[in-house]
Amino acid sequence: MDIVLGLQWGDEGKGKFIDLISENYDITARFNGGSNAGHSIERNGRIITLKMIPSGIFMNGVQNVIGTGTVIDPVSFKKEILNLQVFDKTIQPENNIIISRKAHLVMPTHKLLDIFMEESSDYTKIGTTRNGIAQAYSNKILRQNLRVGDIFSSDFQSRAQHILDRDYRMLEEVGMIVLPALEEISKEFFDGVEFLKKFNCTETEIYLNEALSEGKKVLAEGSQAAMLDIDHGTYPYVTSSSTTASGASSGLGVSPKKIGEIYGIAKAYCTRVGNGALPTELLDEFGDDLRMKGNEFGSNTGRPRRTGWLDLPALKYAVMINGVTQLVLTKADVLSGLKSVAVCTHYEMENGVLVSVSGILPDNAKPIFKWFTGWQTDFSRMKSSSELPKEVIEFLSFLETELEIPVAYLSIGPGRNEMLKLTDK
Ligand code: GDP
Ligand code: IMO
Ligand code: MG
Repeated sequence: MDIVLGLQWGDEGKGKFIDLISENYDITARFNGGSNAGHSIERNGRIITLKMIPSGIFMNGVQNVIGTGTVIDPVSFKKEILNLQVFDKTIQPENNIIISRKAHLVMPTHKLLDIFMEESSDYTKIGTTRNGIAQAYSNKILRQNLRVGDIFSSDFQSRAQHILDRDYRMLEEVGMIVLPALEEISKEFFDGVEFLKKFNCTETEIYLNEALSEGKKVLAEGSQAAMLDIDHGTYPYVTSSSTTASGASSGLGVSPKKIGEIYGIAKAYCTRVGNGALPTELLDEFGDDLRMKGNEFGSNTGRPRRTGWLDLPALKYAVMINGVTQLVLTKADVLSGLKSVAVCTHYEMENGVLVSVSGILPDNAKPIFKWFTGWQTDFSRMKSSSELPKEVIEFLSFLETELEIPVAYLSIGPGRNEMLKLTDK
């Protein structure tokens, strides 16, 4: 099993890369997160953003697993599938998507509670996607949640309604101001659950392990990214799941012994949507220009993404905790046209000490930059890595030396084919 995962704060271009390489696999499998993800895929000039549906969905013959480590919102899932069918009428999702019976359900009250906590001054404002992700995962840990397999049991309706009633009462008690009617959210939820029943809901860990034993190839798809990992990210400004390679193993029920390549995706600069540290953040006009040029607006929520120079200490940390074997660098085209391009190589602490690898990025850390000559390249015509200018090669070589892994692919535009393979592997 190979893995694709994000190395920064999400939105590195995971969806595009998975779509591209999924032709080499029999199965793609999402292992964490829920509808907080937004993985963009380009098809014939049009872009679709997938939230729960794995990014192999457009590849003929590929099965797409939504694994045990995920949380599924039936309402959002139904909308996503209907949207997919409008986007591409040839797709038959019921035949190509397999859902873990052990994946947890996101209830409508989880989403309302997420909104409440984001808006209440009594809580730390994380800047979530408001999809009820933390609330579903925390109820999982509390052992109070419902799972996909439960929807087939005869008492599901009454158990789910009990939870909805109870949590709705709590929202009323804490004084949530805009609260849709309980009947309305309950109806929408049970409607989504009926829709979910049309899919093959099974023991996906058994399915995946049997497939691997038969010699089939599985690609695990991460959502979010290392710096948003619940354990290793910039807590508390993180998501609520394990986004790293070990999360792929536990989230899919596949032994770490079966992991092969670990593709880490990083942008040639940094972005972050939501609150929390971004030490290389560009708070000036140039940062705004980068946002416009890179179209850095959240695929999921439309929020403007914060922008910054590439953060090597954070990237080294992400490569280390994931055991990344190949780097995929995206958005090289967005930096084209600049006189010089910076990479943060260290942080300087208040006491003058230089730090080069850290998962916790202190607020007072001052980034130290190394400057590279920029490239003036029209990537739209580029077909082969032999056409790369020396400035890009110097930039990539520096990253390879520092990270001690090859840059295997360079993405040079949003289009499906705008990707250069740099190694023979
Ligand atoms: P994901 O969440 O990691 O799958 O990434 P998103 O899809 O949320 O965000 C990546 C955005 O960058 C999408 O709009 C992609 O179409 C776009 N994109 C991906 N690779 C490139 C690239 O190399 N250049 C440019 N300009 N855009 C890219
Ligand atoms: P993909 O898979 C970027 C961020 C949110 C917020 C924090 C917690 O497309 O890379 P949550 O809704 O998970 O409780 O929000 O995590 N976040 C993402 N940022 N890309 C994502 O997914 C994200 N999923 C969550 O903005 O800061
Ligand atoms: Mg995204």
